[in-house]
Amino acid sequence: MKPAAELQVLYDISRILDETDDLKSILTPILLAISSHTPMVRGAITLLNRNTKEILIESAYGLTDIQQQKGRYRIGEGITGIVVESGHHLVIPDISKDSRYMNKTGAETDLIKERHRISFFSIPIHSGHEIIGTLNISFMDCNDDDFDRYLKFLSVISSMVARAVRIRQELREEKEQLLDENRRLKAELKECFTPERIIGRSHSMKELFDLIAKVSKSDATVLIRGESGTGKELVAQEIHDNSYRSERPFVKVNCAALPANIIESELFGHEKGAFSGAYALHKGRFELADQGTLFLDEIGELSSGMQVKLLRVLQEHEFERVGGTRTIKVDVRIIAATNRNLEEELRKGTFREDLYYRLNVFPLHIPPLRERKSDILLLCDHFIEKYNRKNNRNVKRISSTAIDLLMMYHWPGNVRELENCIERSVIISQDDVIHGHLLPPSLQSAESSDTQSKTTLRQSLEALEYELIAEALKQTRGNQSKAAQQLGITERIMGLRIEKYCFDSSRYR
Ligand SMILES: Nc1ncnc2c1ncn2[C@@H]1O[C@H](COP(=O)(O)OP(=O)(O)OP(=O)(O)O)[C@@H](O)[C@H]1O
Ligand SMILES: [Mg+2]
Repeated sequence: MKPAAELQVLYDISRILDETDDLKSILTPILLAISSHTPMVRGAITLLNRNTKEILIESAYGLTDIQQQKGRYRIGEGITGIVVESGHHLVIPDISKDSRYMNKTGAETDLIKERHRISFFSIPIHSGHEIIGTLNISFMDCNDDDFDRYLKFLSVISSMVARAVRIRQELREEKEQLLDENRRLKAELKECFTPERIIGRSHSMKELFDLIAKVSKSDATVLIRGESGTGKELVAQEIHDNSYRSERPFVKVNCAALPANIIESELFGHEKGAFSGAYALHKGRFELADQGTLFLDEIGELSSGMQVKLLRVLQEHEFERVGGTRTIKVDVRIIAATNRNLEEELRKGTFREDLYYRLNVFPLHIPPLRERKSDILLLCDHFIEKYNRKNNRNVKRISSTAIDLLMMYHWPGNVRELENCIERSVIISQDDVIHGHLLPPSLQSAESSDTQSKTTLRQSLEALEYELIAEALKQTRGNQSKAAQQLGITERIMGLRIEKYCFDSSRYR
């Protein structure tokens, strides 16, 4: 290489450096500039990651992406590692004769086979007293006399790019720290998480969500208690979905739905010919749930015989199929649920104490809806949206009388009953509003609600009439004749009612 060419390269590099600070977009042109004036076959700039202490190829010339990824060194490892450690350059005249050259990228193998002599230069890149990376260049069949000049030339380039390399390194590390921070914050957020499919903002539900988040991360057996329709199955599914078993099966068994003689083979499976009708081997739910979660619903309904068998699996994680002798081992997380008072069953002797304690490792209680009335409207909105979508309806709101009825009712069937009630109202609503009179009769009668206010039939009818007229006036912005038309009554009757109930039409404009 002639001195004029050297000058040209240095000039090119200084121009490239002037133009941008983005290392990715300057290193490639710099390596290209070197290659165009020297017998360079390959070149790379490596960067030390101060957090992981690993040296990685940041930019390369003549290396494929895969080869680049292979070029990872620890401090002190290979030529690059030695240069970063010592801070001094290394020149290897012939890499095939030097064991320190590791050929990690495998890039030079073919050239060596073809009997070319590859010389390797590794120059440290300094930032103050620190070594932040290296400039690595391999030359093919170059003259020994040129080594000195190449070394000086590459050292100048190395100091020229140092500033850009340092900026890059800082950006990298900053990004890593941000990613770390992001991961930490996400993990923290997860701790006070709100499950997507379980609706509720009441204090008791928030407490439940906290417990769900905690228990999901463990493998503990969970016993979910709560009245019928409070969402026990929903909670079980949520725990599974948030656990490390989420990619594995969530298998449900309803202990009440299966006759006693079938439940054993349902749970543990049976061998072919175990009993008449057992034509083929049948895997039980325990086997199907291996590595996943088994949800034993209505556990309080299990017969005493089955309680003993279940206890054994919970203790030893093994069982035999019906009619089989081979012991099968499984890794299953158990979530059980019941709406029965198990403590009462214990006293009566219908539920085994030892099984109770095995199951009751982490009890979760879902409060009945009447104890968290602040969730009612939130749930209504959720179900209105759900059934609007399902039935292609466009219900937009709930009338204030309907809200009163929903809030007064004591909901013995809990969220399931509320869901059914909203589904029905969405379907029968004619004006995209859920009115009080669309709600089921159970909500209308005072006896079924908390408040024991005695109303006569006449009072109820009048209340209903009042509500319908108010709604119609709202919709027609106080236009009495349009409201009458909507309700299918004459304008005269409308006038009389407005007078009777002292409506002020101007309020609706
Ligand atoms: N908090 C909630 N948010 C949204 N939907 C809910 C909630 N709780 C219950 N549901 C819905 O109510 C219905 C009943 O819930 P689920 O079947 O989980 O109740 P359960 O406690 O298992 O009742 P049972 O004891 O009768 O089996 C389901 O359709 C469920 O999606
Ligand atoms: Mg259930």
